[in-house]
Amino acid sequence: MKQLLTLLTIITLFSCKKEETKNTAVDQNTTVSEGSDPSASLSAEAKLGQEIFDGKGNCFSCHKPDQKIVGPSIQEIAKMYADKKGNMVNFLLGESEPIVDPSQYDTMKANIYLTKNFSEEELKGLEAYFMSFLPK
Ligand code: HEC
Repeated sequence: MKQLLTLLTIITLFSCKKEETKNTAVDQNTTVSEGSDPSASLSAEAKLGQEIFDGKGNCFSCHKPDQKIVGPSIQEIAKMYADKKGNMVNFLLGESEPIVDPSQYDTMKANIYLTKNFSEEELKGLEAYFMSFLPK
């Protein structure tokens, strides 16, 4: 019985995963604002971050607010950076090591070539946007 449960859990996990991957293509035009929409209370800094996240940064294709797709969820990243007092601006400049999921860093690394050319204001905006997902 226990084995059956484990099997079911695995199947469920896998089928969810498949759907999430499928959805990403469809989701491209939707904003991150579904569900727990924090954008109403975003600071100007975080709004800039949101624009980059949904726009030229293309971050939305691998990061969703509260579920892991290709990359960890924004919430998970924000929590880790808060707990470990990480410096996200430095990470996006390629100057500090990954702390959330180092084993998957190769996938993220390609984006560092992009983000390291962003202005400090833009990077701080991205950080503020990520951090706005912390539970209040
Ligand atoms: C191709 C998919 C992909 C894209 C696009 C992407 N990421 Fe990631 N990202 C990942 C993966 C996978 C990880 C987990 C590996 C890691 O922790 O470095 C990650 C991790 C992160 C982390 C946590 C780093 C740490 O300390 O571990 C931050 C912050 C982040 N991404 C920000 C961004 C931002 C900002 C953008 C847009 C400019 C972006 N990502 C675009 C896949 C992506």
